Amino acid sequence: MTRAPLKIAVVPGDGIGVEVMPYGVQCLKTVASIFDIPLQFESFDFASCDYYQKHGAMMPDDWKKTLLPFDAIYFGAVGMPDIVPDDVSLWGSLLKFRREFDQYINLRPCRLMPGVRCPLAGRKPGDIDFWIVRENTEGEYSSIGGKIFEGTDRETVIQETVMTRVGVDRVLRYAFELAQSRPRKRLTSATKSNGISITMPYWDTRVVEMAKNYPDVALDKYHIDILTAHFVQKPNMFDVIVGSNLFGDILSDLGPACTGTIGIAPSGNINPDGKFPSLFEPVHGSAPDIAGKGLANPVGMIWAGQMMLEHFGYKDAAAVMLKAIENVLARSEPDVVTRDMGGNGTTKSFGEAVAGEIASLG
Ligand code: NAI
Ligand code: MG
Repeated sequence: MTRAPLKIAVVPGDGIGVEVMPYGVQCLKTVASIFDIPLQFESFDFASCDYYQKHGAMMPDDWKKTLLPFDAIYFGAVGMPDIVPDDVSLWGSLLKFRREFDQYINLRPCRLMPGVRCPLAGRKPGDIDFWIVRENTEGEYSSIGGKIFEGTDRETVIQETVMTRVGVDRVLRYAFELAQSRPRKRLTSATKSNGISITMPYWDTRVVEMAKNYPDVALDKYHIDILTAHFVQKPNMFDVIVGSNLFGDILSDLGPACTGTIGIAPSGNINPDGKFPSLFEPVHGSAPDIAGKGLANPVGMIWAGQMMLEHFGYKDAAAVMLKAIENVLARSEPDVVTRDMGGNGTTKSFGEAVAGEIASLG
């Protein structure tokens, strides 16, 4: 039986995005050949500051039509702040993908991997292993509001939080489903209904309502302030955490920071309905300070590819890829791993080690 290929749009972007992408693709090709997965890659040079310099825009006008037929976007990183202001590069590319492709879930694993120095004292691999589910389209990050009386002493600024029933329910449903699929079946909701007295109590009400569909999922909620403290002091209490756009944004930086280097953290921007392509990317940016030197850790990019396979439903292949990442991190050979992990290896040595490990496990 021949299956329709899974079409992946490869968008490396800028800086180290361009350097780590080849190893992400190499690892995916390796695992795809072992498990006979029909992946098909096509590369694009837009969504980069180079493209901006040539064309005066981050992307061509028809970018949406071009990318719509793809099953997923594999994205590196965007930004060259010395050449293009960050708001122009980010709003002109990544944020357009997230919004116009209705990628309403931002998903990040927080997992303490073997061989990675944990910034929290006394934690070992296995102690930290949870997922953060962030609402990715509405909430606090709305553009509703404005300014009046600018430059006078009555200067007034207002920005509204927008929570829609559709928007809240769909992120909660995704989070409950994810919690239900995991052995611990535990969901934590981030709230602040003691201080934010309209939208957050609404969020809480929808959580209680949605929980009725998932009686086997243990549910708790914490105000965002104490929740951040628990991330640091008791990270082992969490399984899946769901939060609004702002709370999720904060938690999804704090979580991976508690598990070591930013160079290994992946994330997914997911349209679970499958109406639009989802986007998988490393958490890190384009790192202009180390770009062009071969020093970038490729694991965040590779792990993002692993999440993409999981999203496509290739669980066995995804498990092998994760195991390969774990094994190479556990060995942390100084000549293999990059400087951010205490080694003197390069993007190439690290990336090829993971690809080689996939091949030997497969
Ligand atoms: P960054 O993540 O690019 O770098 C932060 C620090 O972490 C730097 O010291 C960098 O060298 C280090 N680092 C990052 N990734 C690494 C890796 N794979 N291996 C080893 N070290 C790594 O964040 P920064 O400096 O705030 O932003 C730089 C540019 O990236 C800006 O233009 C910013 O707008 C953009 N950016 C883009 C993102 C995206 O495309 N999703 C996300 C974050 C920032
Ligand atoms: Mg952030």
